[in-house]
Amino acid sequence: MAPSRPLSYYLEEETGRRDMYWNYQPSVPWVPTREEVIKILLSLLQIPRGYVVYDIGCGDGRVAIALAQKFPDIHVKCIEARKDLVEKARKAIESKGLSNRVEVIEGDFFKVDISDADLIYMYLLTSVNQKLRPKLENELKQGAIIVSLDFPIPGWNPVAVIELARSWQRAFYIYVKGLSDSSAAAELRNKLLENVLHVVKIKKHELRL
Ligand SMILES: C[S@@+](CC[C@H](N)C(=O)[O-])C[C@H]1O[C@@H](n2cnc3c(N)ncnc32)[C@H](O)[C@@H]1O
Repeated sequence: MAPSRPLSYYLEEETGRRDMYWNYQPSVPWVPTREEVIKILLSLLQIPRGYVVYDIGCGDGRVAIALAQKFPDIHVKCIEARKDLVEKARKAIESKGLSNRVEVIEGDFFKVDISDADLIYMYLLTSVNQKLRPKLENELKQGAIIVSLDFPIPGWNPVAVIELARSWQRAFYIYVKGLSDSSAAAELRNKLLENVLHVVKIKKHELRL
């Protein structure tokens, strides 16, 4: 009879298997934002000095790099789970001399503290946004802006949906913590709205609130 193995052995084996699956199968595959869509994103934003901007699930870092190049007074944090993409992003950031302002955090964005975010860019999936919602509600400060490419956050109201050309990657959903989840006190709402209108060039007819 084979000697019995300690419980920790099975736990390690199980954890190892989960890590293995995790490496192959993050919750969203890597599909980069297209260059022309990044250009539109840059033209839509006027990010104030000192803002902390995240790309959660940043792939090879192309959006983070473009944002840092356009706005020299912001700090960008790029969270990515895939090691190969983390390395690619770090190399690109270094080669462009942006290492002092663009940080790559290797890890699971569900587990990384994002409470200092002023603006978040994400290109994920509706199902993932749904799972992220409690984290966004618990961690983000009032007024934090979220720009989600193509996929809404279920249960939140976008302040605007900016339609792009009719192809894949066709819309930016713009959310504001406090307004979109109705958590802001009435007296704060106008201030948050004014701020997002300053940071994102939203046309009047695009406003949904
Ligand atoms: C659709 S791609 C978008 C990449 C980049 N934001 C862009 O727009 O070019 C989504 C990225 O999220 C990463 N990702 C998926 N789940 C993740 C998780 N839980 N934590 C960190 N990164 C994750 C994937 O590896 C992939 O690179």
